[in-house]
Parts: sequence; structure tokens; C-alpha cells
Amino acid sequence: MTSNSKTSGGPAPRPADEHGAPLLEVRDLHVEFHTRDGVVKAVNGVNYSVAAGETLAVLGESGSGKSVTAQAVMGILDMPPAKIPQGEILFRGQDMLKMSGEARRKIRGAKIAMIFQDALSSLNPVLSVGYQLGEMFRVHQGMSKKDATAKAIELMDRSAS
Ligand SMILES: Nc1ncnc2c1ncn2[C@@H]1O[C@H](COP(=O)(O)OP(=O)(O)OP(=O)(O)O)[C@@H](O)[C@H]1O
Ligand SMILES: [Mg+2]
Repeated sequence: MTSNSKTSGGPAPRPADEHGAPLLEVRDLHVEFHTRDGVVKAVNGVNYSVAAGETLAVLGESGSGKSVTAQAVMGILDMPPAKIPQGEILFRGQDMLKMSGEARRKIRGAKIAMIFQDALSSLNPVLSVGYQLGEMFRVHQGMSKKDATAKAIELMDRSAS
């Protein structure tokens, strides 16, 4: 993806959140994959900014780097083969690329989450949906298995009503 990929955020100046900075800012982000067949330059200088309460849509042709950018923001790229040679990903003004793994784990899931593109391959068919939904409560909020299952059922009820 290049910086001229189309984004829609509206021309109005974006409000800062309560911390005085945009919630998420991607600055001049580059992502490469170092493979046996050579280097794939998947993301080449992406910039965007998202304020609290704002929705940003990123459009681009298949293979243009939308998912890789999102994976970089989430911090879930396998490195290697991925490499981020340049750029910043600021969450509330702090560069997540410079944070410890522990600090990033605290943000991931609790503050920034991702709905994966191919949900069918993201859900494990041998585990119940309730168990997999409950995982976020077990992992991020330390809930017991029983409480997490109850919470997952509550969420499913809520989306059905
Ligand atoms: N692990 C990897 N190793 C090598 N190249 C990769 C890897 N992951 C992604 N790529 C390459 O990075 C580029 C960007 O891929 P990405 O999945 O971000 O595209 P996309 O914009 O999300 O496409 P789509 O609209 O099809 O979802 C593609 O050329 C892809 O082949
Ligand atoms: Mg994609």
C-alpha cells in the first residue's frame, strides 16, 4: 500500500481525544517480507490518523497492503519474515514499535482489536464459538472459564436481539 491509497476520513480537523493526541496515528509506515525469493515491499509509506469516535475506511486493490498494515498496528506480524524498516505507529502519542512486548500485549485486545478478514478460517472448527468468544474475557480480563462462557452467551444473545 502506498500513501496515495484512498482513505476516507473527511476534511474536517480531527478532534483530539482526552489525552490530547489522536487515538491512532500511522506515520510513514513501511513493511517488508524477506523471503527466499526476495524482498516483498508490501507497505510503502502509509500515513493515517484516527481520532476517538472516528471511523476510517481504507480502500485499495487486493494485495495493496491493507491487511498487512492492520497486522502491523496489531503487532501480530511474524518478524522475520516481516520487517518494519521505517515508520511509527502511535497509540495515544506513544510509538508502539518502540514498546516492550509486555506493553503491547496490554494494548492488544484490550485497547485495539482486529476482526479478521476471513472469519471462517479464524474460528477453530473443533472448539465451540462460545469458548472462542470467551477467550478474550479469559485472556484479557482474567475471568474464570465459567464466567467467560456466561459472558460469551450474553454477547450472542445481545447480537440476536
Ligand atoms: N507472510 C508474507 N510473506 C510474503 N508476502 C506477504 C506475506 N503476507 C503478505 N504478503 C504480501 O503483502 C502484500 C499485501 O498483502 P495484504 O494481505 O496486506 O493485501 P490486502 O490489501 O489486504 O489485500 P485483500 O484486499 O486481498 O485482502 C501482498 O503482495 C502479499 O502477497
Ligand atoms: Mg486483506
